[in-house]
Amino acid sequence: MDFLDIMRQRRSCRAYQPDRTIPREQLLQVIEAGRLTPSGCNAQPWKFVVVDDPEAKEKVCDAVVTSDGATGAPWRHQVSAFILLVEQPAKVMQLVERHYHDTQRFAQGDLGAACMNMCHEAFALGLATCVIGVNEQSKMERHFGIPHGCEVRLVLALGYAADGGAEPPAKVRRPLEEVCCFNRWQ
Ligand SMILES: Cc1cc2nc3c(=O)[nH]c(=O)nc-3n(C[C@H](O)[C@H](O)[C@H](O)COP(=O)(O)O)c2cc1C
Repeated sequence: MDFLDIMRQRRSCRAYQPDRTIPREQLLQVIEAGRLTPSGCNAQPWKFVVVDDPEAKEKVCDAVVTSDGATGAPWRHQVSAFILLVEQPAKVMQLVERHYHDTQRFAQGDLGAACMNMCHEAFALGLATCVIGVNEQSKMERHFGIPHGCEVRLVLALGYAADGGAEPPAKVRRPLEEVCCFNRWQ
């Protein structure tokens, strides 16, 4: 399949077939897509924590609810596996550190890119995904032993779409003219 077709057909899934497991081999293929992702200064400032054990999944379900009870994933209990994308200290070139006074300048972008590569690999394997952007860091640290300061930037939910991935809905995107211009800001 053409890569743009993959991008058009992938969608965020918010209804999964519960009680299904994803073979570890496939989870590792998804991780490989993350591992191969380019990063600023090739720092690879990430660790991917795969969560597929039922008890550990319950802990993710708890951690994606904030301390004031909010969540972006009311469907979280149907998910077959989660991947926590954890930011790690980046070793960057001196010129980057000198210019930005910030070794983590590229890290969030790097994790975002890794996340999307994983989404597309998952789609290619017939899996459904949804990125969960909000979590409670203190719960992540407590439940998974994540070192203090290593932020869980994203949680990727993976599973099997309840509707079997039937008809991908039309993409809701800003028009081309609004998001792109040539040679000069317009
Ligand atoms: C950084 C990020 C955080 C997101 N967080 C959530 C979330 O918490 N809950 C949710 O249902 N979708 C979440 N999404 C999915 C977006 O809502 C979705 O990608 C967007 O509406 C476009 O739809 P599509 O992925 O089906 O093309 C997130 C996506 C990104 C990239």
